[in-house]
Amino acid sequence: MILALETSCDDTCAAVVDGARIRSNVISSQAAAHARYGGVVPEVASRHHLELVNPVVDAALAEAGVGFDDLDALAVTRGPGLIGALLVGVATAKSLAAATRKPLVGVDHLHGHVAANFLDPEPLDPPFVCLIASGGHTQLAGVREPGAFDVLGQTLDDAAGEALDKGARLLGLGYPGGPAIERLATEGDPEAFDFPVAMAREPGLDFSFSGLKTALLYAVRDLDRGELERRRADLAASYQAAVVGQLTAKLERALEDGDWQAVALGGGVAANSLLRERTTDLCEERDLRLKLVPGELCTDNAAMIASAARFVEPTPYPDYLEWDALA
Ligand code: KG4
Ligand code: ZN
Repeated sequence: MILALETSCDDTCAAVVDGARIRSNVISSQAAAHARYGGVVPEVASRHHLELVNPVVDAALAEAGVGFDDLDALAVTRGPGLIGALLVGVATAKSLAAATRKPLVGVDHLHGHVAANFLDPEPLDPPFVCLIASGGHTQLAGVREPGAFDVLGQTLDDAAGEALDKGARLLGLGYPGGPAIERLATEGDPEAFDFPVAMAREPGLDFSFSGLKTALLYAVRDLDRGELERRRADLAASYQAAVVGQLTAKLERALEDGDWQAVALGGGVAANSLLRERTTDLCEERDLRLKLVPGELCTDNAAMIASAARFVEPTPYPDYLEWDALA
């Protein structure tokens, strides 16, 4: 039984996980607090985490129906993420673990996104390829054991989620941009604009999204106000298709390169229905097993951190008191 905390970005999260079973998974989203800035303001995030972390931990324990005595260990995201935001979770977890003399597990956030796939129902066993696409990271992870993964390829500039967030901003949509673009795209034509699916023809498994963002900027600039209004949905649909097209092109190449039998998705962008559809098609064509966790386990949450913690050596009291956050 593990109590985990996750505060690496703008969600304050605590969860209790018992083996592969989620007992509680509390997420307090700060999205509304950051929306008016069009993105996460790190110092605002840290201050919100500070206010929210205790009530969120209380809620996670209460919902799970457990107390500190029932816990085998605590776990926390040590990095990567925003330093001030991470510090709140790390300091809280250290304090709670020390006060109760429990071991503490330090978890890598990206390992957490992979480990969301190890939870009930129908946990996925390695080996598999996991495409992690979030606001801060885009990676193809080769997962051969539950406690570690190899980076097969990653973005050379922006993350996929970042490209969607910045694209949404150019289109005058809200934050977070991924869901906003997804909603508007349902009314648009994905072939209306010919955005570059960068890197698709390049060798290797790395990604690049900054050129795509610039292409959208130019397309928006070339339209007058009325045209932009009329074609906003087409822009959203075409832009989303280009982001998803690059993700699936590289995933397909990773599958061609290696002898993988199963595929998983992770990170906030994995909640995107076009990406889920395309990946489903790709896996059906190749007769591969595909694991798609529900949207609330794709975006940041602490259940995935507890899940990863099961496969990491716990640090006994009081050794973790020296820990720092790893931005
Ligand atoms: O994993 P996550 O919650 O936080 C990070 O670790 O970054 O991912 C957040 C990212 C944001 O960029 C957000 O726009 C994107 O995931 N996102 C989506 C969707 N839901 C969240 N992108 C596309 N479609 C969605 N439905
Ligand atoms: Zn994340």
